[in-house]
Amino acid sequence: MNASPPIVAVCLNPAVDVTYPVHRLIPDSSHRVTGVLSRAGGKGLNVARVLRQLGADATVLGLAGGASGARVADELAHLEVPAHFTRIAGETRRTVTVLSGDEATVFNEAGPQVTAAEWDTFRSDFADRTGGARMVVLSGSVPPGVPETAYAELTGLARRNGATVLVDATGPLLRHALTAEPDVVKPNAHEVGDLVGVPVRTRDGAVTAARELIGRGARIAVVSRGAAGFVAVTPDLACAVGVSERVPGNPTGAGDALAAVLALGLACRDPWLAVLSAGAAVSAAAVACSQAGEFDADVADWLRPGVTVDFI
Ligand SMILES: Nc1ncnc2c1ncn2[C@@H]1O[C@H](COP(=O)(O)OP(=O)(O)OP(=O)(O)O)[C@@H](O)[C@H]1O
Ligand SMILES: [Mg+2]
Repeated sequence: MNASPPIVAVCLNPAVDVTYPVHRLIPDSSHRVTGVLSRAGGKGLNVARVLRQLGADATVLGLAGGASGARVADELAHLEVPAHFTRIAGETRRTVTVLSGDEATVFNEAGPQVTAAEWDTFRSDFADRTGGARMVVLSGSVPPGVPETAYAELTGLARRNGATVLVDATGPLLRHALTAEPDVVKPNAHEVGDLVGVPVRTRDGAVTAARELIGRGARIAVVSRGAAGFVAVTPDLACAVGVSERVPGNPTGAGDALAAVLALGLACRDPWLAVLSAGAAVSAAAVACSQAGEFDADVADWLRPGVTVDFI
């Protein structure tokens, strides 16, 4: 891999992810919580963490407010992930996961209300700070008040700055983003099925959906299919990529790891098939880590020779 050019990962709706382990979750009763875990989360942060683990020059741009916003910023500083958060008056959200044995019950706050003036300030910070970026990754949800056209607007600004843009989003955010012609989109099969209105259950179904994403404006479409790997479609090549066996573990954040590898590979202008193989190995190795935003480097090295690429 060539030396990393600057990459920006956007996280408009970061969170303090709190995990409460309990002996057994019983509704309508009180629980003693042992060993509370708390960690900065959000898809853009996961992407940035994986990029850093890959040795990339990654910076986070986002919105943050209140004590939990300060907590997210502190943790990134501690991890030595450069970050610039546009301050908002609202409080950055929390997510709460109650862990009872193998069962996880998740409570997701929507996020703080963002004013039109705060969104304007973010857009201008973004335009300033992506001036030297080779690649911009737009991923995850947006908080209330940020328009559905957010990723379309940011794609336009980043492209004007000469950056390549990868969008990993869902619903109206993705639908609007496509109209701004991003370089790469990486939804999962479920998300792309919702967008095109046809459930995506097979490899060929994923290829058809990816072609529709290209028809709607993307230059490259990657549709991830969990343990079945992913399909990657460009105007002149379609292939299905994956590792030879299912990896047990925590699949949350595997898609963020794939987005990080695609972003770095494209930013470095690495050969496309090498980027895809690395994407399969690293995203599968992310499943082997209990925390989203990390991958097990030994597992990735071990999986790499067994990656299969089928041309369609
Ligand atoms: N159990 C698994 N074993 C091997 N590889 C996996 C497994 N789960 C996921 N992957 C790899 O990770 C990639 C991304 O996974 P997935 O489709 O679940 O992403 P996602 O739903 O976007 O995840 P998230 O949004 O939580 O990051 C897959 O295309 C595949 O390459
Ligand atoms: Mg995803």
